[in-house]
Amino acid sequence: MSDTIRVLVEEEKIDARIRELGEQISRDYAGREVHMICILKGGVFFMCELAKRISVPVSMDFMQVSSYGGGTKSSGIVKIIKDLDESIEDKHVLIVEDIIDSGRTLSYLIPVLQQRRPAQIRLCTLLDKPERREVSNVTVDYTGFVIPNEFVVGYGLDYDQRYRNLPYIGVVEPGSSGQEE
Ligand code: IMP
Ligand code: MG
Repeated sequence: MSDTIRVLVEEEKIDARIRELGEQISRDYAGREVHMICILKGGVFFMCELAKRISVPVSMDFMQVSSYGGGTKSSGIVKIIKDLDESIEDKHVLIVEDIIDSGRTLSYLIPVLQQRRPAQIRLCTLLDKPERREVSNVTVDYTGFVIPNEFVVGYGLDYDQRYRNLPYIGVVEPGSSGQEE
């Protein structure tokens, strides 16, 4: 099956933006250690590239939640599939997400993490689709790119588990996907 993918954000642009974010985060966390929490699976490509651009000490942990079924629409239900390995007490937590869409995932997750008494929680996302927001209590501290209301793939983002490995952000052209062979 060969889908047509329209490039929305080129690889070079993503690299340059991640470099900027890394520099900004390094300045903001000067004298502290950043405890990066990657939201699996989508956040993993972004987190690895971002971590390499941060010059203050970094530690990492991973968490997997599900708010979506196989398709492209939010179920509104958030479930922790894999919890963190380590305590976040007194740590400066930076949540690293692939995309903030409805905001429901983080709207659920941030209060759960707050209860574990971190020193601070900040949120960093590669992509933001503000038009789609359904909650008002999610504040993004670091954003790679604000994008229009289109379903995107690549750089960790999937459509039914495919396309995560694309080195750019793209849109699956309507009519070219969705049919299982
Ligand atoms: P939210 O809870 O609606 O903000 O959704 C967050 C999660 O939905 C992201 O971490 C993605 O896994 C998924 N998601 C939202 N929009 C897209 C998209 O355009 N492409 C791929 N996955 C998406
Ligand atoms: Mg997903």
